Amino acid sequence: RVKLAVVGGGSTYTPELIDGFARLREVLPLEELVLVDPAADRLELVGGLARRIFAKQGHPGRISWTTDLDAGTDGADAVLLQLRVGGQAARHQDETWPLECGCVGQETTGAGGLAKALRTVPVVLDIAERVRRRNPRAWIVDFTNPVGIVTRALLTHGHRAVGLCNVAIGFQRGFAALLGVSPAEVELEHVGLNHLTWERAVRVAGEDVLPRLLADHGDALAERLRLPRALLDRLGVIPSYYLRYYYQHDAVVRELRTGPSRAAEVAALERQLLGMYGDPALDEKPELLARRGGAFYSEAAVALTSSLLRNTGDTQVVNALNHGALPFLPDDAVIEVPATVDSTGATPLPVRPLEPLYAGLVAHVTAYEHLALEAALWGGGGRKPDRAGGRNAVFSALLAHPLIGRTDHADRLTDALIAHNREHLPWA
Ligand code: G6P
Ligand code: MN
Repeated sequence: RVKLAVVGGGSTYTPELIDGFARLREVLPLEELVLVDPAADRLELVGGLARRIFAKQGHPGRISWTTDLDAGTDGADAVLLQLRVGGQAARHQDETWPLECGCVGQETTGAGGLAKALRTVPVVLDIAERVRRRNPRAWIVDFTNPVGIVTRALLTHGHRAVGLCNVAIGFQRGFAALLGVSPAEVELEHVGLNHLTWERAVRVAGEDVLPRLLADHGDALAERLRLPRALLDRLGVIPSYYLRYYYQHDAVVRELRTGPSRAAEVAALERQLLGMYGDPALDEKPELLARRGGAFYSEAAVALTSSLLRNTGDTQVVNALNHGALPFLPDDAVIEVPATVDSTGATPLPVRPLEPLYAGLVAHVTAYEHLALEAALWGGGGRKPDRAGGRNAVFSALLAHPLIGRTDHADRLTDALIAHNREHLPWA
């Protein structure tokens, strides 16, 4: 019998999670679920719907909510992190100011992703510290972006943590549907860093069906990823849609400059969703939630939490310490690959040598993530906040990013990042 806390439980994503908990109660038998969030009004709406979903599906678990982190996580076996420091308003900034330099504006990739890391890492470490004080054995499942950097922060601070993203499970479900097999039959050779991954093989009953998938469904796959079909054929692997920000950078920038930001779209969607959640007649996750990016997140979270708590030793694609799996990266880099999951955490399975075409980018972004984490920790942990040092740490991370990499861009972006995030930076 399991007690789980969800930090950021007031998110409009939460009903996706609840729906998964209700459907998959055999995999993860929840006795108690606590939603923790600083926004009391959202908690009421989301919590009320969560209870109705459990009731409708006959789930016996208790659901409660609180704005008090310590009380809410007390006694938890696992804590799911799905928070967003500064909400969609901060995301809108991240998606906007980098465009002025001709750089992609995105919540996890490029300069916007660095801004998000700087806001988020100290908050997540503080939460993890408070959880550990009360529940030293509790697992932290991190869905909070940027997942690679946040997970690296957690693990290098000795927390029992695993990072989770839904890109791999999304591919697995999508391929299974195209192939007409069940998702459990589809095994991915997924490799890279969070939001920087490629599917190198897709195995069904031991056979790599990726060439067949590309031949039979290449157009559909290319359309979903918004990448040219010819590129998929040439690579012979399937990149995640986040690779579009690299492979088609300038085209994406032109596109982002004309449309509304994703944050603005999501904010509108959230208003609509919260309105629906307040309706006492609603007792399932609404169709409209599919317009957000969290598809299958609940199933991945249930599988991961269950394996951590039940010591199953099965294989799941998660974010974990490299420890030699990609030998050209430091051991303390966090990579996203299939890993064995048991009560000691996630351990990457051996990875076939990575081709230079992918290894170069992975190494480059890993170096950026290292510097991003240094910048995010600047002036924290009781050290003296030092403005010049803080600025330099941000500049270095930006200069190291393969989508930035020029001193004039890095300088302008550093100034913009600091100007838009001053209240989150202790040294600024
Ligand atoms: C996918 C990614 C998540 C990201 C989300 C954004 O699920 O894996 O890391 O947070 O998309 O979705 P949204 O609806 O907020 O744009
Ligand atoms: Mn993700």
